[in-house]
Amino acid sequence: MPVKRSRAEELEPIERASRDEIEALQLARLQATLVRAYQHVPHYRQAFDAGGVQPADCRSLADLAKFPFTNKADLRANYPFGLFAVPREQVARVHASSGTTGKPTVVGYTKNDIDTWAGLMARSLRASGARAGDLVHVAYGYGLFTGGLGAHYGAEALGCTVIPMSGGQTEKQVQLIQDLKPDVIMVTPSYMQVIIEEFRRQGLDPRAMSVQIGVFGAEPWTEAMRAEIEAGAAIDAVDIYGLSEVMGPGVANECIESKDGPVIWEDHFLPEIIDPETGAVLPDGSEGELVFTTLTKEALPLIRYRTRDLTRLLPPTSRSMRRMAKLVGRSDDMLIIRGVNLFPTQIEELVLQHGALAGQYQLVVSREALLDELTVRCELLPSQAQTADRAAIAAVLQQRIKDLIGVSAQVDVGLPDSIERTLVGKARRVIDRRPR
Ligand code: DLL
Repeated sequence: MPVKRSRAEELEPIERASRDEIEALQLARLQATLVRAYQHVPHYRQAFDAGGVQPADCRSLADLAKFPFTNKADLRANYPFGLFAVPREQVARVHASSGTTGKPTVVGYTKNDIDTWAGLMARSLRASGARAGDLVHVAYGYGLFTGGLGAHYGAEALGCTVIPMSGGQTEKQVQLIQDLKPDVIMVTPSYMQVIIEEFRRQGLDPRAMSVQIGVFGAEPWTEAMRAEIEAGAAIDAVDIYGLSEVMGPGVANECIESKDGPVIWEDHFLPEIIDPETGAVLPDGSEGELVFTTLTKEALPLIRYRTRDLTRLLPPTSRSMRRMAKLVGRSDDMLIIRGVNLFPTQIEELVLQHGALAGQYQLVVSREALLDELTVRCELLPSQAQTADRAAIAAVLQQRIKDLIGVSAQVDVGLPDSIERTLVGKARRVIDRRPR
């Protein structure tokens, strides 16, 4: 897939800075963040005291490893505003993550935090190949979710025209894309698939759409999915990463010219990779859990926040900052089927490699007697509906899953459109029917 645009000349100085310059900036900001957290957030004061560390103990970046981790449970325990480092009156906005169980996680931003976020989203969009004057269709959800408003403010900050469409209403999405002719779309990769399907359902060729660039994130997606979307819509598909606790979208973003994993905006977020079992810091290149310390956030500074996302830190390429490898998945999403660890993305690769199957799939896990059973549901491409032998395709995929992942799964190949699509929010790839 050709890269349609490259904007290398517009880099901010920090995007080209030397490693030494970046680390000096990180250390100064880290020391200030530790002091602020200790002085203004009772949770951090208690946690540092309990761990026998003081902000002054941080004299080098490596000293950060002496400080305690922060978990989702700490956010819950301090619900809703207990981890804020500024009085609530100085919080300009809150967002919240849905959370499948219990209370949501509430995050807050000062006016400066909102400006920083918009600036980093503008930088992310620029890395994605967008430029001032572009028309940007935002189909991430608006509201408590950070996707819609995060994308919106960033596109405005870059000088783009924004279409604040939000998620859902797929027919209307297609109509607006056809009529307004956006250059860029920002949406979850799974919903982009649905939009492409809707083009075809209406007899339109999605490759003829005006969009040149898609900025996709908020859920794991594979290189196979990238290839599928790029070919299906004739666009460049770029990966954007973020999480609401740390900021929202734009913590890291891939560069269109290299498409080699999101660049972490290290001037604002200090990444570590740890062994999820022992908490030990691992060297760059090792796979483990991604941990972030925020370096500039005012309302909700986070010290060593455990994301539960599993990935690797990679050396800089197109920018001076390190990259993260495409996410394998979240440790929460890992299934253990009869002793074999499995991420939904591994199934995604294999489904998409089969030429007769659409990129829609679901993993249904149930328990028969004492053993976990996995059923992989996928579906035929519309062009295959009349001719394909579904049982034969299922047998092929079953064998591939057994050979490459080591799991015995039942495979159901359905007719086109038989799997329920997620129209708003993140795709639901796993249906867990095991008794709790
Ligand atoms: O999903 C923020 C976001 C919005 C990112 C729009 C990108 C685009 P949360 O709802 O808090 O925030 O979910 C964060 O989603 O810890 C990852 O597990 C997952 N995630 C986010 N981006 C990616 C990505 C937003 N590019 C959680 N690849 C994170 C894989 C991603 N997983």
